[in-house]
Amino acid sequence: MNTLVILAHPNLDESIANKRIAEQLSTKVETIEVRDIFKRYADYKIDVEAEQQALMKADTVIFQYPFYWYNMPAILKIWFDEVFNFNFAYGPEGDKLKGKNFLLSFTIGGPEDAYSPLGYNHFRISDFLKPMEQTAYLAQMNYLEPIYEHGMVYIPGVYNTPEVVKERSDKQAQRVVERINALSNENPESMIKNFVKDWFAHFDILAEDGYFNNYIANGAKLKFPEGEFIGHEGFSAWYAEVKKTIKPNNEHRIESINVVANNGHFDVDMSVKVKAEKYSGETVQANAKENWKVEVTRDGRIKILEYIVNSVQ
Ligand SMILES: Cc1cc2nc3c(=O)[nH]c(=O)nc-3n(C[C@H](O)[C@H](O)[C@H](O)COP(=O)(O)O)c2cc1C
Repeated sequence: MNTLVILAHPNLDESIANKRIAEQLSTKVETIEVRDIFKRYADYKIDVEAEQQALMKADTVIFQYPFYWYNMPAILKIWFDEVFNFNFAYGPEGDKLKGKNFLLSFTIGGPEDAYSPLGYNHFRISDFLKPMEQTAYLAQMNYLEPIYEHGMVYIPGVYNTPEVVKERSDKQAQRVVERINALSNENPESMIKNFVKDWFAHFDILAEDGYFNNYIANGAKLKFPEGEFIGHEGFSAWYAEVKKTIKPNNEHRIESINVVANNGHFDVDMSVKVKAEKYSGETVQANAKENWKVEVTRDGRIKILEYIVNSVQ
């Protein structure tokens, strides 16, 4: 598997975290290219052709950068504006990145508790990442769960020590290496199992329907205790009712899961324990037997063709 790291830091000489993570990735990951885009384009004049060539060779693209003003450094924004262009990343012929993995790995100065509705940054990190997530979807790439660590800034005499930042950087680099190794060894069955886990984690927090619809095939058959629905519109209609009824932070525990290849698709049979609280104050505890029919497309994307919740007790 070819891995490409787009390293975006406007002052790498003074970096502790990103420099260290990039160095570790380049020594610990096989067939990796680390492109320091600020070093290449300090004048912000991007060689679009060269960047697109590098992307075409990659199976996994990692964006490694420091979190700046709740976003990415300017060099990376310009890079996206120019490199992810019409008929390359989107548009009628814009499928050149289709199926490639898209992984954000960034370092955050502020502490974790600041990034919550009651913290001084008000929003969750995942809220700040929405434009990137949708960029990956539009380019038909696989948006992977981002990897980041908090408290990555060292301000002499005020906040942290260089040792603490280095330790956290090593931890982050290790997490990225493990993710790449997992991707390299993945077979469709384990890919589906990981996906199902991720799917229910999104249900637990009642994530936006864009996440779910990204994996639902056009015209998919969906059968819930509440009735039968078809495709994206059907899912969104069903989900809107669910969101009105139950509170976020519920629990879906996968008790058992079985994935079997069947004539070009996979049958996924599972039992799931659901625990949720309704807005009415009632607590729901149920065992659901679910049978899904899933396709893994040739470029490694998962599509749900059928989603049947068979019985709930
Ligand atoms: C211009 C600038 C903007 C920053 N904005 C944020 C921010 O919005 N939130 C945050 O938690 N940290 C912020 N930081 C702290 C950086 O995220 C932190 O310094 C960086 O992750 C450390 O990585 P490095 O050692 O590779 O430079 C900012 C730092 C700079 C220089």
